[in-house]
Amino acid sequence: MGGYDEECDYLFKCVLIGDSGVGKSNLLSRIAKDEFHLDSKPTIGVEFAYRNIKIKDKLIKAQIWDTAGQERFRAITSSYYRGALGAMLVYDITRRTTFVNVRKWLHELRESENEDMLVIIVGNKSDLGQSREVEKEEGEVFAKTKGLCFMETSAMQNLNVEEAFLQMITNIH
Ligand code: GTP
Ligand code: MG
Repeated sequence: MGGYDEECDYLFKCVLIGDSGVGKSNLLSRIAKDEFHLDSKPTIGVEFAYRNIKIKDKLIKAQIWDTAGQERFRAITSSYYRGALGAMLVYDITRRTTFVNVRKWLHELRESENEDMLVIIVGNKSDLGQSREVEKEEGEVFAKTKGLCFMETSAMQNLNVEEAFLQMITNIH
């Protein structure tokens, strides 16, 4: 996982986007370090981490940019979509507004230069089923109408995080 000086066959830039508090930074820390933080603070601007992965004998280095969901950083973050081959667009299944805003994020992505970016819609916090405001089926149907991949995850319980990441990377590849 995540060595900086290993030789790689491909370098893929990916971005994590979505409203503040949906769990982007925790999805990234799961992917890159297998860590989860209950008390994580909102991201300021942009951070990134690497994750190496082998697919069919090719070593792929994914450089994953974690952007701030807060509105006040929007002007900065959109410039980081440039060159990205994949995007995880994340909402929180316990807050419907974050799902409604998926449309806005998609629109913003589509306005960036790379129009054929591989996008996976991720409904995070599936461990909080008792506070669910968005049914899994709604997420699935929405993604399907847009022709995008979809998965529900829990960064906290480490459910489907690896699968979502793999789906994004293998579909780019
Ligand atoms: P911004 O950086 O402001 O855009 O937010 P973010 O999307 O990076 O959210 P972050 O990862 O900081 O998580 C926000 C809160 O949700 C934190 O308290 C996390 O512990 C919590 N959280 C993240 N993922 C999960 C999850 O899968 N389940 C539960 N129950 N809580 C989660
Ligand atoms: Mg964050």
